[in-house]
Amino acid sequence: MNPQNIVILGTGGTIAGQAGSVRDNIGYTAAQFGVAQLLAELPAMGHAGPMIVEQVAQIDSKDMSFPIMARLAERVSHFLAHPEVQGIVITHGTDTLEETAYFLQTVCQPVKPVVLTCAMRPATALVPDGPQNMLDAMTVARHPGACGVVAVCAGTIHRALDVQKVHTYKLDAFNSGDAGPLGYVEEGTPRLLRNWPSATEESAGIAINKIVNLTSPGDWPRVEIVMNYAGASGAIVEALLAQGVQGLVVAATGNGTLHHALEAALLRAQATGVRVVRATRCPNGQVLPRPGDTLVDSKGLSPVKARVGLILQLLK
Ligand code: SIN
Repeated sequence: MNPQNIVILGTGGTIAGQAGSVRDNIGYTAAQFGVAQLLAELPAMGHAGPMIVEQVAQIDSKDMSFPIMARLAERVSHFLAHPEVQGIVITHGTDTLEETAYFLQTVCQPVKPVVLTCAMRPATALVPDGPQNMLDAMTVARHPGACGVVAVCAGTIHRALDVQKVHTYKLDAFNSGDAGPLGYVEEGTPRLLRNWPSATEESAGIAINKIVNLTSPGDWPRVEIVMNYAGASGAIVEALLAQGVQGLVVAATGNGTLHHALEAALLRAQATGVRVVRATRCPNGQVLPRPGDTLVDSKGLSPVKARVGLILQLLK
């Protein structure tokens, strides 16, 4: 391998999407172009430096699965082990990017940059956003001192722990909540506001060779998310218990509050050995623990990331 290689791993998404018309930004099919083709058509590609390209998956990220995430983690750790590799860029759909980012950060704990990028418009759009996002992601992957899993979209760098998709349509569809972004990419230069994620900050404590063999979704622990809302009941929890669910994340209201009927059902579930974690459905802030809490909180993780974390814990 050449010195200072970056590796580009493709997984599909809108960035690789195709529509019937250049004016159509929503009626497209995701994951139609291979990542090598996207790169070949990227303006300024001649200046992008040496790289290795691999297509790991080709999906709309709404269909992301744990076997695919584990395979991605295996490819990430394989390439990062090469001293000649400086960093990795992963093209991904926006819809579950935050889950994959959190999974990779906790499983791989990379000491080099792993940069997820995406697009809100398909590759066939009159003015697609994917090419600029891809170039910005490569800039971050080549930035001296960069490390950890981050997402780059619309000129903004987000840490895996904080990033959340917050808009259905806008090109700047992500934010980092209270924490704020890690930085920006401005005219090909990162401007940092905070430190890069540290490799030891979050650890799933799980070996990649253990999870890469879990090739069927059924090999993974069953963890579901339930939500608190006006008039919530315990019915969904009871139904999930009857199906043998192993873990539950509750997207509670406010600072972790629960309708008494849902709370009673969750406590019954916990008493039978099901792991229950309390997150909040509020997009900002985190559940602040109070004395006497009977359900553990998600330590600031959103419900979807708390679910990823709980699945990994149950595997240990
Ligand atoms: C996807 O998540 O794969 C489709 C939507 C997107 O990338 O914006």
